[in-house]
Amino acid sequence: MSLKNINPTTTNAWKELTSHFNDIKNINIKDLDKETNRKENFSLKFDDLLVDYSKNRITKETLNLLVKLAEEVDLKDAIEKQFSGEIINVTEGREVLHTALRSTTDAPILVEGKNIKPQIQTALRKIKSFSNKVISGKWKGYTGKFITDIVNIGIGGSDLGPDMVVESLKYYKNHLTTHFVSNVDGDHVSEAIKNLDPETTLFVIVSKTFTTQETISNSETVKNWFLKSATIFDIPKHFVAVSTNLEAVDNFGIDRNNVFPMWNWVGGRFSLWSAVGLSISLSVGFDHYKGLLAGAEEMDLHFKNEDFDTNIPVILALLSIWYNNFYGAETEAVLPYSQYLKKLPDYLQQAIMESNGKGVDRNGNKVNYQTGTIVWGSTGTNMQHAFMQLVHQGTKLIPADFIGYKESLYGLTAHHKKLMANYYGQIDALAFGKTKEEVHSELKLSGNEDKIGSLLPFKVFEGNRPSNAILFDKLTPHSLGKLIALYEHKIFTQGILWNIYSYDQFGVELGKELANKLLNNQ
Ligand code: F6P
Repeated sequence: MSLKNINPTTTNAWKELTSHFNDIKNINIKDLDKETNRKENFSLKFDDLLVDYSKNRITKETLNLLVKLAEEVDLKDAIEKQFSGEIINVTEGREVLHTALRSTTDAPILVEGKNIKPQIQTALRKIKSFSNKVISGKWKGYTGKFITDIVNIGIGGSDLGPDMVVESLKYYKNHLTTHFVSNVDGDHVSEAIKNLDPETTLFVIVSKTFTTQETISNSETVKNWFLKSATIFDIPKHFVAVSTNLEAVDNFGIDRNNVFPMWNWVGGRFSLWSAVGLSISLSVGFDHYKGLLAGAEEMDLHFKNEDFDTNIPVILALLSIWYNNFYGAETEAVLPYSQYLKKLPDYLQQAIMESNGKGVDRNGNKVNYQTGTIVWGSTGTNMQHAFMQLVHQGTKLIPADFIGYKESLYGLTAHHKKLMANYYGQIDALAFGKTKEEVHSELKLSGNEDKIGSLLPFKVFEGNRPSNAILFDKLTPHSLGKLIALYEHKIFTQGILWNIYSYDQFGVELGKELANKLLNNQ
């Protein structure tokens, strides 16, 4: 049985939400914040994670209606279908089972009648043994030297996930240096290899299809570079692949023993939990890689089992729908207060926008409501000195996720205090703003009474700008896994509510086709 097919705007909840929106659209977060126990009532704690969503333009009634919407479109049924391996990626005829990659239970998950758990375990063992060999130096290059550098060649989901995680877990990394090459722009690969030694470099070619123009071009280029000093018999020591297309991998010249599996039931942008994450395991070691998977599994279980009104991904998805579909907000910002997470917004752009950037519903009809949000962002505090001006005083409503950590990794507590003061300062400034009266008395007190007439309107902050505070104890592989899985489930929830197919990406095809036509005509 496939996913249900319900236009959200035809539900009772949607109608009620529309009239509720008209009643409360002018509410102010500043007033809401005065409610007794507002913070407690609009916060969710899940082990090392605290999500405070009290600074949103919502009441208990808003939340009840949004939850009712999730119930009316039968989100529960969709969750069951995803986790159990039904073909919910209907347009591609595929199951969507990235959650199976991190499941540690014995419960079988069937694809075409066959339990996939054993092949997942075999792949994990292969990742472990290979990573251990390379990290320990047992795996040697063609002249007998240790491997010092890893180059991941891939694009989209075969690049963004591993790249983001390797960067985010830099603190936990070993002696290997990991590079990522993705763009077909030859300057990218040239820069990446210019200081590398072919004797000590290992290339990990990641491509589910092994036909992607960028990845194949870059792989051919590095192979030619490698063969300037080595022979084709040395390729097995320096090239490994992650792919479903064994024939193409063979043709490239990679030893079958050096191929790690990928499966059609894992979408590219959700694949870092598979062997696509090999560079992660090489960079931080298999135990940390497992930690990442374990954190994701915890979030999976939370998402699967928790009631909607206490379910973190569901709540964040519903809030996003509230702003997207009722307030007409077009974008959302993701603002991590950790320099390690600087690549998270890029990663989320693919995960969110390639998934939910769809204008046709599950009936094949053009939707008559807004879908996929535009997501963007950067790290705090850097972005405070860049685009935050617009978020504070511009004309657009931009709900924001502030991601923070109670502790820093190196323990410079004075720095961390400042970082987190900024984190909370921004949240409060957005929510509460600064009134005319406050600006007036500030100017007066600072001896600038003469400037009140000319400056006052420019110094006012309207406030009432919503945000979520997503706070973890500490950045670890485990908490990162949880965070990524949180967004994955938010994406899924929104796709279900918008009645679209989140797991295909036909929108990327036309440009590729036209580029190929142009190339062939040259
Ligand atoms: O850009 C489209 C896309 O199919 C992504 O979804 C995918 O992550 C990327 O290309 C790379 O594909 P492959 O792993 O097959 O090279």
